[in-house]
Amino acid sequence: MASPAATCALAWALSLLCVGTQGADPAPCVFPFTYKGKVYKACTTDDSDHPWCATTANYDQDKAYRLCSEDAYGGNSSGQPCFFPFVYGGQTFHTCTRLQRDLPWCATTSDYDRDQRWSYCPDTMLGGNSEEPCTFPFIYKGGKYTTCTTVDEKRPWCATTSNYDAHQKWRYCGTAAAGGNSDSSPCIFPFIYKGKTYHKCTAINDDMGRPWCATTPNYDNDHLWRFCLSKAYGGNSNGQRCMFPFVYQSQLFHSCTNAGDNMGNSWCATTENYNQDKLWSYCPDIILGGNAPGKSCVFPFLYNKKVYDACTSDGESSGKLWCSTTSNYDMDKMWTYCSTPDYDKPCVFPFIYKTFKFRTCTNLAEDNKKFWCSSTDNYDRDHQWSYCPA
Ligand SMILES: *[C@@H]1O[C@H](CO)[C@@H](O)[C@H](O)[C@H]1NC(C)=O
Repeated sequence: MASPAATCALAWALSLLCVGTQGADPAPCVFPFTYKGKVYKACTTDDSDHPWCATTANYDQDKAYRLCSEDAYGGNSSGQPCFFPFVYGGQTFHTCTRLQRDLPWCATTSDYDRDQRWSYCPDTMLGGNSEEPCTFPFIYKGGKYTTCTTVDEKRPWCATTSNYDAHQKWRYCGTAAAGGNSDSSPCIFPFIYKGKTYHKCTAINDDMGRPWCATTPNYDNDHLWRFCLSKAYGGNSNGQRCMFPFVYQSQLFHSCTNAGDNMGNSWCATTENYNQDKLWSYCPDIILGGNAPGKSCVFPFLYNKKVYDACTSDGESSGKLWCSTTSNYDMDKMWTYCSTPDYDKPCVFPFIYKTFKFRTCTNLAEDNKKFWCSSTDNYDRDHQWSYCPA
């Protein structure tokens, strides 16, 4: 009888049939594993179009494997991305963990104890030769590390004992949305990249055109970055869009804020009144920007000696709305983009999504099966979208 694994093995050459399942084998990836005598410390695309891993330490002997998931899945966060570091049982986790669950999982907000939201980790985020938590500080080549590092590896990693030089036990650290090298640190605007100042996410120099941001004010010095997320995530609203303006405490917010977030991440309410409904998400990074991280609009404000009572696109070449975050822009020059509810953006048909052309709204890739459309002619390039009117 053909087992699912055998079917997948046959499909191996075609490398298609099994894609989209979590892999033939429900067992977790085992790292490192050997394949054709070579040692692998993470998922690989060797001899396959889709990343895969062995589920025992020796593929050559056991032939047991799994197709690696590339996105977070399962759990109760609708496949929303992992958030790192997160607190679980009072302990801080910089990596996925298998504590209490069959497969490596992560929290999707900074505090699992409080929010109780989680996803299984993308297998492609995993790897190393240890499943223990990171140990900080650790010693590596005589140096002392107090956080995950990219020294000698493209992806951030940590030692899982206090002395790598002695024990050589390590693993990859988790990263937000499986991209970048600075866990879930917020985007910092403005940031400097190759001497130029950026006030919002940019797709410059990403070969696939994906928007990214630096997570410190100076990429040239620090080389810390992450991909920008295009949808709201985390929180307790299952990725529902932000609502603007919203009331939080006694203030009206026209943009995302980091007020009250101890990690400095920007969040929004997903209803008009946070005080009453307590529903929130982290903001899509692509709606953030300006030079006053986490600050909200102050109205009225003075700009070019004129008084503004609302967000304006005056002086902004991209036509996006902005506001001053102090009462006097002329003096303080501090500003942020104003966010508008994303359902305000009209659909553009046809649009390209995953290289296919769409002439109507689609519910593909939406966990809640709501219909959406691209708000430019190319979603793959611009990552701009909105829900379709019901
Ligand atoms: C998510 O799962 C956790 C653990 O299984 C549970 O405690 C929590 O109540 C769940 N939350 C929601 C919103 O379903």
